[in-house]
Amino acid sequence: MDSQLFLWFCSMSTAFCFVFFSFTLLFSLFSLLLFVLRSKLWCNCETCQAYVSSSWTKDFDNLCDWFTHLLKKSPTGTIHIHVLGNIITANPANVEHMLKTRFENYPKGKPFSALLGDLLGAGIFNVDGDSWKFQRKMASLELGGVSVRAHAFDIVKSEIQSRLLPLLSSVSGKEQALDLQDVFRRFSFDNICKFSFGLDPGCLELSLPVSEFAEAFDLASKFSAQRGLASSSLIWKVKRLLNLGTEKQLKEAIKILDGFAQEMIDQRRQEGFSERNDLLSRFMGTINDDKYLRDIVICFLLAGRDTVASGLTSFFWLLSQHPEVESAIRDELERVMGSSEEQFASFNQMRELHYLHAALYESMRLFPPVQFDSKFAQEDDILPDGTFVRKGTRVTYHPYAMGRMERVWGSDCLEFKPDRWLKNGRYIPQDLYKFPVFQAGKRVCLGKEIAVMEMKCVVLAIIKRFKFKVPGLDQAPRFAPGLTATLRGGLPVLVQEREA
Ligand code: HEM
Repeated sequence: MDSQLFLWFCSMSTAFCFVFFSFTLLFSLFSLLLFVLRSKLWCNCETCQAYVSSSWTKDFDNLCDWFTHLLKKSPTGTIHIHVLGNIITANPANVEHMLKTRFENYPKGKPFSALLGDLLGAGIFNVDGDSWKFQRKMASLELGGVSVRAHAFDIVKSEIQSRLLPLLSSVSGKEQALDLQDVFRRFSFDNICKFSFGLDPGCLELSLPVSEFAEAFDLASKFSAQRGLASSSLIWKVKRLLNLGTEKQLKEAIKILDGFAQEMIDQRRQEGFSERNDLLSRFMGTINDDKYLRDIVICFLLAGRDTVASGLTSFFWLLSQHPEVESAIRDELERVMGSSEEQFASFNQMRELHYLHAALYESMRLFPPVQFDSKFAQEDDILPDGTFVRKGTRVTYHPYAMGRMERVWGSDCLEFKPDRWLKNGRYIPQDLYKFPVFQAGKRVCLGKEIAVMEMKCVVLAIIKRFKFKVPGLDQAPRFAPGLTATLRGGLPVLVQEREA
């Protein structure tokens, strides 16, 4: 009897396994079919074919330039890359709609959070809803205060005086070119680490040392950005599951960052944080969760490092092509500083440097550090230009293309003209949605003032004492794929100290 029961039990469990296996297989096939149908992986339209076959690379160096070309041709200033499920717009009315009017319908969304989730966790860049609101409020309070700005100003001045200027002096008159992009990345990494963690990685020391932390940070941002280039998220998700290739390297880089952040948090807890000025210490007063603290601070590193370095690199590239702009900045500085012996302009003096401010904005109009930024539609919608947006579609606004649209900036849009921002010698802000370089609306960049102050300090300190010669000046910039605009091959310059 027992053996019969056993046999019956065996046959029942075999049947059950068979049904279960068949159901799982059918369900998986059905999901795959739905995924393929929704992803429109086979779209035959000209644009999608050019994207899939990479034939656009025959005519354009950068993907952004190709998108700009398509956006210029589009009567609405909006295009749809079906295979990517991505609507891209350079139309200011659409930008305002996404970032302000229907902000709630355009969160970062799950696909974006997944791409950067391993690196940024639940940090401000990577979350929506209540978690974002909480961090935004807290970070606005911290970054809005006069004391934190004065602290940032002191950090920047000290990094310029003790590292940037001595480094430039050390290579002045030499035949060997210095990569200015690398210098600015080191400079801004030192600054943002001091500002966020109260830690000095010393990347801009004269020996230009290799920092394990900076390297891990670079790799982690690069590989996270690469996930976004895959035509389907399934590709990187499978690689991550199997711990293969770049996903394996990403995991290792993040482990180094985590260890480092934890060390900082432990150290701060031991030493006490109430007397310190850095962001980590300030946040530690409100937040107890170490993982959350790590996520917040890593987001600030990402926000403040490559963006500032990218803005400075493009600025000096443009300046090398426009010596008249450099002269005008020097004239203005002399006018504002008068006979003062001070090396740095004060906060108030800096506010009077309208031409410099205009020149920096004009440079970021043409070369925005964040070339494009995406959201995911939560519900079906219609953009102001009539474009239908299906729920779940990625919608990207494109500051790089916007700076090159005649209908946005006029027929001279491709020219570098700081004067377009001035009226009677005073800087006049433009419509935020035609210049969303710092984003705009409810999620506008929280570090904008600090970033512009940092850039102004660097420009003034450098052009007062040094001249740069850029070999191969006639080549248009080519960018490497990444979260922020980075020049392929850097910006090699020959440095010459000016005569006193
Ligand atoms: C030239 C330099 C900079 C540019 C062009 C820039 C641009 C941007 C952009 C486009 C965003 C929106 C990103 C997104 O939502 O996906 C953003 C957000 C943000 N930025 Fe900046 N940024 C710069 C420097 C800085 C600096 C130095 C800091 C910190 C000290 C900073 C802190 C932030 C923060 C915290 C956010 C998140 C705001 C939110 O989601 O509510 N940024 N920035």
